[in-house]
Amino acid sequence: MQPVKWLVEFVDVRLGLKDLYDRELRGYLLPRNVNVWYTLGAVLMALFTLQIITGILLLMFYVPDSEKAFASIQYIMNDVPFGWLFRMLHAIGANVIMIALLMHMLSVLFMASYKGRREFTWLTGFIILNLTMGLCLTGYLLPWSQLSFWATTVATDAAGAIPVVGDYLVEFLRGAPTVGNQTLGRFFALHVVGMPLVLLGLMGAHLFCVKRRGISSPPFGPDYRASEELPFFEHEKHPNGIPFFPNYFVKDAAVICFFMAFMLAIIFYAPGMFFPESAFQKADPFVTPQHIKPEWYFLWAYQALKIFPSEIIGLGVQVVFMTFLALLPFIDRGAERRPAKRPLFVTCYVLGILLFVAISIWGHYS
Ligand code: HEM
Repeated sequence: MQPVKWLVEFVDVRLGLKDLYDRELRGYLLPRNVNVWYTLGAVLMALFTLQIITGILLLMFYVPDSEKAFASIQYIMNDVPFGWLFRMLHAIGANVIMIALLMHMLSVLFMASYKGRREFTWLTGFIILNLTMGLCLTGYLLPWSQLSFWATTVATDAAGAIPVVGDYLVEFLRGAPTVGNQTLGRFFALHVVGMPLVLLGLMGAHLFCVKRRGISSPPFGPDYRASEELPFFEHEKHPNGIPFFPNYFVKDAAVICFFMAFMLAIIFYAPGMFFPESAFQKADPFVTPQHIKPEWYFLWAYQALKIFPSEIIGLGVQVVFMTFLALLPFIDRGAERRPAKRPLFVTCYVLGILLFVAISIWGHYS
């Protein structure tokens, strides 16, 4: 017997890998009309893996001290071999993850894939979305640039609008009355250990929910069947479906490559896209830059705080909206998933996206 064949046999007899492959990969059947939007979950997994790899590389050179952090980032960018590449992949990757997360959420919303006893899938996904925003926020401070310092000051200030506990919360988040070394320490700990650990657990829970319940069929075409809400657990099977491996895996891989190419295109052709001038100046608590704006995905929240007569109303509106979104599968109970049969939902969906874009642009230019 050839050595490789022998090794495969040796492992297989002990771990039953062929059986696992037949059952979980070749035998895992997806709906025949599954579309490209279903690849976004795999894209997110690939992007998160890349963040972990580039994050570990950055950790080898980054110093979490307000006196040294900015210089350590400059050292990574200018002196460490390929340091610029893994730093840019990490920073731009965070933005691309937010794009992919929003696309994934909007696609499951449009196809109403949260229906049919998929509340846990939606809820775990929704918490992941919020935690990822927290991960981006804590990471933003680490380069200790003017942008980092002032964006964190503005963001933590917003918590002060909460009645009674506001001031206490601001100090708790910062670890001191103002943003400083204490803030850097706690944001660093949360960014590199606390939040990624929780996120990994949540991603595991999310994938478990998807796999256990069974993937939904896209609500299009003649094969469409409304999801039944049975009083007992049932795994949604697709007996005439296509195998996940290799058939759908190839599609997943192609879209992952597309996202990687998109990221590299930004790095090589528009590296400054997500870095304003203030990202290249060391933090100075005594010089407030003229224009400090949060990242694009926080602009809507930032502007909402400004358009209402008081910050507490702006904050209240955000809390109501986010709670509504989190509980959507419990509110939208109808079995119908076809967008053409849900005109009210589709109208609100389109208006909601337009409102998000308009408020964000307004926030950017205000
Ligand atoms: C780290 C982030 C995430 C990862 C890795 C992830 C991964 C996945 C994967 C692999 C699937 C199955 C294939 C697909 O539909 O793409 C899926 C489905 C789903 N995801 Fe996510 N997801 C994430 C975030 C989210 C978010 C933010 C939401 C919503 C707020 C969400 C809601 C859902 C729902 C409802 C499904 C079920 C789709 C179905 O059964 O057709 N996910 N996710």
